Amino acid sequence: MSASIVQIRIRVWDRFVRICHWSLVACVLTNYYLVDDGEGLHQWLGYVASGLVGARIVWGFAGRGHARFADFFPTPRRVVAHLRELGAGRGISHDGHNPLGAIMMLTLLAIVLLLGLTGFLQTTDRFWGEEWLMEMHEAFASALMLFAGVHAAAAILMSRIERTNLIMAMVTGVKVRRSGVNPWRGRHSPILRLPEHEIRD
Ligand code: HEM
Ligand code: HEM
Repeated sequence: MSASIVQIRIRVWDRFVRICHWSLVACVLTNYYLVDDGEGLHQWLGYVASGLVGARIVWGFAGRGHARFADFFPTPRRVVAHLRELGAGRGISHDGHNPLGAIMMLTLLAIVLLLGLTGFLQTTDRFWGEEWLMEMHEAFASALMLFAGVHAAAAILMSRIERTNLIMAMVTGVKVRRSGVNPWRGRHSPILRLPEHEIRD
């Protein structure tokens, strides 16, 4: 017996989340790879990145749907449930952030804020020229790159496992899933097997 394959389009990321994400990526990568002299443009981009994170935090409370922290905040109960599901080969498709992705997302936001803080302190009379602060700033920058690398790799890996292009979803705002197929162990998934009338856009 073969199940029919239905394409499901789920609108997940609003415009603010998408613009915020890619602008943050641009600021961080530019500051790390191109403008790391600590001068004007570097500081400016660093403050823009911190401002984007601040705005994203506000949006986590004021926004709607999957942008809200309440939608994905990784409470211990959610994390444990997610790990159990992963272990059992079930429930891999979250419309918004999955709990592990949410932990990473919050970590990345926190490190950008710490970079803004340690960067700002270096410009003050009190801490100007402090070696330990420079080293701390540098360590946060390296940690950010490491975590961002893991984050990007996880996005690519989960895209393959879920057979859903998560990166394109962060561009268009829409996750395109195919029902009737469980990419996890090749079985039919109760989550993915949605009837046609449940196509959401
Ligand atoms: C410095 C680099 C990066 C930072 C700081 C960063 C940060 C973030 C944050 C904060 C989110 C949560 C979005 C929100 O809810 O507002 C996110 C999600 C996401 N990012 Fe990144 N990101 C970076 C690089 C990348 C790269 C290079 C890719 C592509 C390979 C990528 C792909 C994604 C995807 C697909 C999501 C959504 C994950 C999901 O479906 O749950 N990110 N990122
Ligand atoms: C996205 C945020 C940021 C990233 C990724 C970042 C990254 C970096 C990196 C990689 C360096 C070079 C460290 C080295 O010399 O090897 C650096 C230096 C520096 N950054 Fe940032 N930074 C950010 C934000 C800021 C902000 C907001 C400020 C200040 C307002 C700032 C001030 C400085 C200063 C003064 C230095 C020079 C330190 C030194 O003399 O070695 N940064 N930053």
